[in-house]
Amino acid sequence: MKHDLRPYNRGANTASGLPTWFGTCPGVFALSSKAFLSYDLNIVRPAGAASNSIAYPLGTTDRERQRLVRQAELLHDITLDTFRAAGLGPGMRVLDIGSGAGDVALLAAELVGEGGSVLGIDRDANNVAFAERRAADAGRSNVTFRQAEIDSFTGKNLFDAVVGRYILLYVPDRAAALRQLAGTLTRGGILAFIEPDFSTPVRSFPEAPLFQQAGGWIYAVVEASGMHRDSAMGLGKVFLDAGLPFPQLLCRTWIGGGPGHPVYEYAAETVRSILPSAEHYGIVTPEQAQIDTLAQRMEQEAVSRGSVLMGCPVIGAWAKLR
Ligand SMILES: C[S@@+](CC[C@H](N)C(=O)[O-])C[C@H]1O[C@@H](n2cnc3c(N)ncnc32)[C@H](O)[C@@H]1O
Repeated sequence: MKHDLRPYNRGANTASGLPTWFGTCPGVFALSSKAFLSYDLNIVRPAGAASNSIAYPLGTTDRERQRLVRQAELLHDITLDTFRAAGLGPGMRVLDIGSGAGDVALLAAELVGEGGSVLGIDRDANNVAFAERRAADAGRSNVTFRQAEIDSFTGKNLFDAVVGRYILLYVPDRAAALRQLAGTLTRGGILAFIEPDFSTPVRSFPEAPLFQQAGGWIYAVVEASGMHRDSAMGLGKVFLDAGLPFPQLLCRTWIGGGPGHPVYEYAAETVRSILPSAEHYGIVTPEQAQIDTLAQRMEQEAVSRGSVLMGCPVIGAWAKLR
């Protein structure tokens, strides 16, 4: 069975890979990509230094990076819709915070084109190296990756947009982070984020207990590790607390079931990544999770019951500086 999964550069409807209106979209084009890539960014905090962040509870394995790529496929459309609605366009200089395997930065790099540039930052050196390889493989010369903390930058007019996906949920003081990031933007600059909402549980009907159980383990780690359960629904207040305009918002989720749906692997791989943390917090042991067969068992269960499965809501939120 074929599913609508899109890597960062699919879904094109023009030769350039972008809808036609992107070619005429006005933007803030202060620096060429080459100028930007050699730009003297004032990184004041080395990666790993104490910062406004919690430890990443999903680890830094190659398997976790592959999971991020799989997750990026599921989140491609909401990310693109959010960026389009926010006004990301040709020539812009974009900062992607918490760039992981690089998918968001690569998608943004398509939108800003060769006249723009994207800098992806992540605290994890292995993620940075992985993302750099993917950018090279994709022949993208307008995107670069650096190892840095999200609150590393000082200075005005560094970027036309700051974006991030599945990152604010790890930031203890989100308003402080957004205030600082907004300070690096040009006048009229954009802040755009895509975050999951863990205040709404995953659902299945007829109920698929193993899927619900796997969701419960993930949500329990969110809670125990200090991640924000309201990471998406809380964004309105967070933007206001940061002195920003109330954001515009959109909401999507994935829904599906039946044989071969990608959710079984995605959910099982997410459990695999959080398993050390889940064991640490006393939520579930590897023996209980039986991780190597979890995807297969979830699929068997859902297929035999005819269950429809639904993930947590995912919210895009964006605002423009006045
Ligand atoms: C869930 S991943 C999201 C990756 C990517 N944004 C995406 O959506 O595909 C979160 C990433 O943020 C990084 N991260 C977490 N806290 C960070 C911080 N304070 N500074 C820089 N990177 C951070 C992690 O290393 C991880 O790669």
